[in-house]
Amino acid sequence: MSLDFGPAVALSCRECGTRYDLGPSFACLECFGPLEVAYSFGSVTREDIAAGPANIWRYRSLLPVPTDVTSKQNMNPGWTKLVKADNLGKVLGLRDLHVKDDSGNPTHSFKDRVVAIAVEAARNFGFHTLSCSSTGNLAGAVTAAAARAGLDACVFIPADLEQAKIAMARVFGGKLIGIDGTYDEVNRFCSELIGDPLGDKWGFVNVNLRPYYAEGSKTLAYEIAEQLGWELPDQIIIPVASGSQLTKIDKGFKELISLGLVEDKPYKIFAAQAAGCSPVSTAFKAGHDVVQPVKPNTIAKSLAIGNPADGPYVLDIARRTGGAVEDVTDTEVVSAIKLLASTEGIFAETAGGVTVGVLKKLVESGLLDPSLTTVVLNTGDGLKTLDAIADDAAPTAVIRPSLDAFRAAV
Ligand SMILES: Cc1ncc(COP(=O)(O)O)c(C=O)c1O
Ligand SMILES: [Zn+2]
Repeated sequence: MSLDFGPAVALSCRECGTRYDLGPSFACLECFGPLEVAYSFGSVTREDIAAGPANIWRYRSLLPVPTDVTSKQNMNPGWTKLVKADNLGKVLGLRDLHVKDDSGNPTHSFKDRVVAIAVEAARNFGFHTLSCSSTGNLAGAVTAAAARAGLDACVFIPADLEQAKIAMARVFGGKLIGIDGTYDEVNRFCSELIGDPLGDKWGFVNVNLRPYYAEGSKTLAYEIAEQLGWELPDQIIIPVASGSQLTKIDKGFKELISLGLVEDKPYKIFAAQAAGCSPVSTAFKAGHDVVQPVKPNTIAKSLAIGNPADGPYVLDIARRTGGAVEDVTDTEVVSAIKLLASTEGIFAETAGGVTVGVLKKLVESGLLDPSLTTVVLNTGDGLKTLDAIADDAAPTAVIRPSLDAFRAAV
């Protein structure tokens, strides 16, 4: 089998640095630490990138994907809008606020980015079935990507997810298995399945393909910098479930600096969780390095991972960059969804309510500097979590079609 992973040269242990050949592996044999992709980048210029397509493949020379990736059957996500959020900024007292709106991806969440890379890895390794454990958005991203790539799909979710996320995961075909349990139990089951003949030939995007999959989140960092005119933001607020996305946005910023694509400057990374599933925020506030698992209970189901794999790395990045980890209640999540919608015309899912809610809280507590360039992520579409605003799912008034009735109603 001849593998083509573009600029990627090895897998490297994040704990002890041991290197491995590129393969469908995810844990270090020496210390059980997580593996990540290591690169040998050639020369990359802003001009080369700008000449690329309006999707994540404009950054293919920074990703573990085949050189001819643009010609493959792929959902081609990315290059979503960075919205200058002056109205929301005014309400919150922020001078230069931007919303990176990843609801604009093909299946309406940032998960299309990570899955796009995982699909190419699955193809490289000859896997015919794509799988995952999901809190909702990933399941739909995987089944859609498998349909486009001509692969089989079998994905696993906690059975009590939002109806829209279940429907989206099913409509693309493949098998959708609901597990009677939490996401963490679904994830544990998938790890068991990989070791069984039933699943040992499958590409689990967030298990045995995780090192490749995770790299997809770097494209958020690249896009934000390019859309700010090749500058890093001063402050960024990122939602945390497993913490993978946050760690890779930091990796992406660092790569841009080391390649000379942006000026080296300090940036602060803030992590956002829902209070009903806030193990990383709790550890941050207590000054701990270890994240104590919790049993989630929040409307932000997409972020409901009680035992986050990248939790300790999130703590390290928040502390090293001078950021913080904060959480908001379900009530604050709903208020934040409505605030973002009514100021910017962006309908966020609960994960976006978490980041905007945390943004507001950080401004109020003085942890964010309102004079600096700030980016807040919306990683998913509000149409997938309609239950969160069920109280508003009715007209302001119902009237007869007459001017008199309208006058009386308004
Ligand atoms: C909409 C949305 N935002 C953010 C996340 C968090 O991703 P991570 O597990 O990389 O922290 C998820 C994860 O499922 C998600 O669905
Ligand atoms: Zn190791």
